[in-house]
Amino acid sequence: MARKVLLDVDPGIDDALAMCLAFFEPELDVIAVTAVGGNVSPSQATRNVQVILEQLDPPRWPRLGAASEPEHGLPVEGRYQFGVDGLGGIDFAVAERQHILPSEKVICDAVRAAPHEVTIVALGPLTNIARAFARDQELAGLVGQIVIVGGAVNVPGNITPAAEFNIYCDPTSARTVFRSHSTKILIPLDVTNRIELSYDLFNQLPDENTRVGKFLRQILPPAYRSYRQRLGLEGIHVHDSIAMASVIHPGLFTLKPMAGDVETMGELTSGMTVFDRRRVPAWRHNMEVATEMHKEQVIEQIIRGLNRTA
Ligand code: RIB
Ligand code: CA
Repeated sequence: MARKVLLDVDPGIDDALAMCLAFFEPELDVIAVTAVGGNVSPSQATRNVQVILEQLDPPRWPRLGAASEPEHGLPVEGRYQFGVDGLGGIDFAVAERQHILPSEKVICDAVRAAPHEVTIVALGPLTNIARAFARDQELAGLVGQIVIVGGAVNVPGNITPAAEFNIYCDPTSARTVFRSHSTKILIPLDVTNRIELSYDLFNQLPDENTRVGKFLRQILPPAYRSYRQRLGLEGIHVHDSIAMASVIHPGLFTLKPMAGDVETMGELTSGMTVFDRRRVPAWRHNMEVATEMHKEQVIEQIIRGLNRTA
């Protein structure tokens, strides 16, 4: 039976690619997609989820959740990595729905409807998940598992010297989720930074006459431009797709139990993930962290997954 997944996303071209992988993967049943502010504002994220769905038109449409402002507001640094609208400024038309339930409500309902069965794939800041846990105090123990793209263990941050973007956007929520009694897998920058997809990717995309091929050919060039201009790279990182690959092909990743928390106050370190790696640790293991992956096979699976969409 296909595994039930709920995608919590802040699209973002990176998130859009990961959504392509999930929607057409026969091993997954995408029951809901909840928007969260991060790469773009909450309202833009909600719109972008609808754009992506309309462009891809997957065989089964998931339930949608609308993003709202996090309690302490969203930082704007890093926001424009994927253009002002998060999808490369293509200006896709979309018939926006008027009455979408809040993301945290959709998360609560989905988990309650299938206790211990739902995998939440958190590809953005952890605002919605923390809110869902606040709304329903038993929820953390009812989630199957949460796969979180975020944090950094032995490498620098990607938005500040200390912090990774998703955790930095809403460190308080990230701390709530890290400290919750849920089963968590963290896919940190240490692993996701290792893959850089070069422009050759274009030769391996689905045909441009397919919906997915056409969509990807529109949104990817702005991502390549941005990586070149901002980071001097000739390729793009695909953090969110790597996390999705870890859900679909867990055997390609090595996980290590660790004790992690999030700095929420530091002037220079807000959003930094901190792990107790002392000889005699005082913190209990609260998550598994990806430390290694079979890089070439992960790349192969991402390309294969994108082509399955056609
Ligand atoms: O740090 C990686 C994360 O931040 C990804 O989820 C990506 O969408 C980005 O903006
Ligand atoms: Ca993301």
